[in-house]
Amino acid sequence: MSLKVCLAGATGWAGSELARGIAAASELTLVAGVSRNHAGKLLGEALSDSRLTARLYASAAEALVEPCHVFVEYTKPASAKANVLLALQHGAHVVVGTSGLTEADFAEIDTVARERQRGVLACGNFALTAVLLQKFAESAAKVLSHWEIVDYGSATKADVPSGTVRELASRLSRVREPQVTIAPAQAIGPPESRGATVAGTQVHSVRLPGHVLGVDVIFGMPDQTLTLRHQAGSSARPYVDGALLAIRKVSGLVGVHRGLDRVLEL
Ligand SMILES: NC(=O)c1ccc[n+]([C@@H]2O[C@H](COP(=O)([O-])OP(=O)(O)OC[C@H]3O[C@@H](n4cnc5c(N)ncnc54)[C@H](OP(=O)(O)O)[C@@H]3O)[C@@H](O)[C@H]2O)c1
Repeated sequence: MSLKVCLAGATGWAGSELARGIAAASELTLVAGVSRNHAGKLLGEALSDSRLTARLYASAAEALVEPCHVFVEYTKPASAKANVLLALQHGAHVVVGTSGLTEADFAEIDTVARERQRGVLACGNFALTAVLLQKFAESAAKVLSHWEIVDYGSATKADVPSGTVRELASRLSRVREPQVTIAPAQAIGPPESRGATVAGTQVHSVRLPGHVLGVDVIFGMPDQTLTLRHQAGSSARPYVDGALLAIRKVSGLVGVHRGLDRVLEL
């Protein structure tokens, strides 16, 4: 049976690449998309790709009139929560790629998803190498007590630190709080030099031309260090395979689940 997918943000940087990935997957069918600027067109007209025959609608409410099994949210933080709640009310399972939803948003979504017996799988970074870095860093944090994170982004990336790094710091905090030998406030010199404290971890954000998106987690102990590094290039291709996996697996879940490792057998 083909899984019917509705994609909010189908004309965006991440959404358009995912739309092409869905079109290439034999067991998935893209039945509708959401884009305010291209509403009324076929997605293929908007993206100059004749394989994409789904119609675009101005809102999730209109797109959800087309029955779908899975709704993918890939718009913007301001529209994400309302879209997700609406999709659940229409009986769809939901994959969330959009960053910026708060813990309170997820708690509200979880309540509705459980009432409706539907799954929501949210992942701030679908790139498989980022998902693996997260997993390996959690394992390392069980053994190594000191770490800091370097967050790399392009000169035009305004959000600091990235959603990927926030999620990573939050997950590491659930393993344990990293130990700090000299607290930033006690450092001699500007305390900002020691970075920002995010969920207990010191994070240093670099924003420079030449970088796209990357993360180093550096673990240290006397006379030895371990660096785990994920780097992504400028295309949205890295986010497609993980999102496709989430679409295929989300119907096996009930309630909100965070992180692709929830459905990735590691
Ligand atoms: N999880 C991951 O791996 C991953 C990877 C990449 C990006 N992201 C996140 O995904 C989100 C989208 O990123 P992007 O770079 O693809 O953004 P983008 O290029 O600006 O695309 C946004 C898409 O959403 C639509 N849109 C925006 N606001 C909307 C609204 N209020 N209602 C309906 N549609 C709306 C846009 O079309 P119209 O303007 O025509 O409506 C467009 O199709 C961001 O939160 C980003 O951080 C996550």
